[in-house]
Amino acid sequence: AVTNPIELAGFGPVIPVIVLQRLEDAVPMAQALVEGGVRVLEVTLRTPVALQCMEAIAREVPDAIVGAGTVRSVADARAAFNAGCQFAVTPGYVSEIGLECREIGLPLLPGVATASEVMAANIDGFNFLKFFPATAAGGIPMLKGLAGPFADVAFCPTGGLTPQNAPDFLALPNVKVCGGSWLTPADAVQAGDWGRITQLAREAQALRG
Ligand code: 3PG
Repeated sequence: AVTNPIELAGFGPVIPVIVLQRLEDAVPMAQALVEGGVRVLEVTLRTPVALQCMEAIAREVPDAIVGAGTVRSVADARAAFNAGCQFAVTPGYVSEIGLECREIGLPLLPGVATASEVMAANIDGFNFLKFFPATAAGGIPMLKGLAGPFADVAFCPTGGLTPQNAPDFLALPNVKVCGGSWLTPADAVQAGDWGRITQLAREAQALRG
């Protein structure tokens, strides 16, 4: 089990950000990603079936490390924990959720986009942060800028990353892993093209900074 969120960065360079519209896609998609070497899966709480998808993956794909993305409330964090998630990801930072995740023992990767948000997360004890939305919020120059005052903070840039620009992000000393939705294109999921997802996972797993 994951205890410190920084451990998530040890499994590979990319954490897929996943949107599942159908429960029946959850397990085969997770298996396809794991087959391609990608074990850490962020399933977003953006669809009515998301929690059931997390439960199914946690139960049936033992090599997957499933977490909840788009956690926007304390209730979301509790529901994710109860669904068997091993971690949570928030798009922004609010103390209430950070402290609740600590309380229930759910490792949290909190989102930030500004220096003030980095400070708020740091004060609550979080030093590994999602930089979101990465390209819109300043991209590589912003991450280089944050490295000055926040030398001890590591980031997972997510939002606008592609197989083409991800290596440039991964080359930064303060970037340990990145996130992106490109591993699970909606059309491939819709078509049940799991082979394509395995291939995208393999390519992502091979990316280096
Ligand atoms: C999201 O919020 O959907 C994630 O940040 C992924 O963004 P992306 O689709 O730009 O990879």
